[in-house]
Amino acid sequence: MKVTVVGAGNVGATCADVLAYKEIVEEVVLVDIKEGVAEGKALDIWQKAPINTYDTRTVGSTNDYSKTAGSDIVVITSGLPRKPGMTRDDLIETNAGIVKTVTESVLKHSPEAIIIVVSNPLDVMTYQAHLVSKLPRTRVMGMAGILDTARYRAFLAEALDVSPKEIQAILMGGHGDTMVPLPRYTTVAGIPVTELIDKDKLDAIVERTKNGGGELVKLMGTSAWYAPGSAAAQMVEAIAKNQRRVFPVCVKLEGEYGISDCYLGVPVILGKNGIEKIIELDLNEDEKALLETSRKHVREVMEVLDKLS
Ligand code: NAI
Ligand code: 2OP
Repeated sequence: MKVTVVGAGNVGATCADVLAYKEIVEEVVLVDIKEGVAEGKALDIWQKAPINTYDTRTVGSTNDYSKTAGSDIVVITSGLPRKPGMTRDDLIETNAGIVKTVTESVLKHSPEAIIIVVSNPLDVMTYQAHLVSKLPRTRVMGMAGILDTARYRAFLAEALDVSPKEIQAILMGGHGDTMVPLPRYTTVAGIPVTELIDKDKLDAIVERTKNGGGELVKLMGTSAWYAPGSAAAQMVEAIAKNQRRVFPVCVKLEGEYGISDCYLGVPVILGKNGIEKIIELDLNEDEKALLETSRKHVREVMEVLDKLS
């Protein structure tokens, strides 16, 4: 199994590193436009192999996509990250151009690939990759829900003083402040979370989750990479090993949840064909209203992209 990660910046390099040290695939190709950066990081990760004991080969390339030929999965992380004061949507113009060029270049050499988009604004960049690639929706998806859910789970684990492994949760909607954490579908080793935590504390955790990306941008001056890179690698693993794991993933909705022609995070089964199935939860009226607010926001940004092209 061969995976290409485009963008050897913070998120891309982290993703490549996780794919390598967990031996998720045999070969990882890192691509960047900055001369030598992808080659250098790929070499650095390979030199870590004897220390951390893994066999995965890592190869770097400065914009030479012939090295990516025959990739089974492509992760697109290229593009500008957020800086303090910016929203994810502020990145649309620059990143739309980058995602377009990159999608065309990878498909030229790997027409059978499954594409995982990470670049922001996530839902709309997934739309862009889908527009450019014209691939079935099962093969073009976006990573955000695993990250957002991980933040929610981490905050809950801290508040309840339990292992983060015990927190099971699902979160839906766009990757932005309108995302929809779902306490009704959150458990601690099977126990509904609402039985273990006060409503006020849970509400505060939901709010912190919605602003989780911004919290890190404020602290670091740029956006996060360890959790995002690991989350993208987890999606690769589910596909590469046909694990059929259930994750929130950004996908084009075609009638599910009563929504059409919009890219939103929903629970799916991920396996060897990419999106194997979209799971439709029986949302209550409050949850439906939150999802609708998120849909409207993503739809507005999709329209900005439509006007750009
Ligand atoms: P970064 O600035 O560290 O890395 C981006 C890399 O992309 C740079 O090395 C740059 O040279 C490269 N690049 C730019 N244009 C390119 C092109 N045409 N071809 C190949 N490489 C190109 O940024 P970072 O932190 O890695 O973030 C990457 C993207 O991921 C950003 O758009 C960020 O907002 C997004 N992101 C998304 C998350 C999500 O949950 N979906 C979470 C975290 C970041
Ligand atoms: C994050 O949520 C900025 O999308 C990036 O960390």
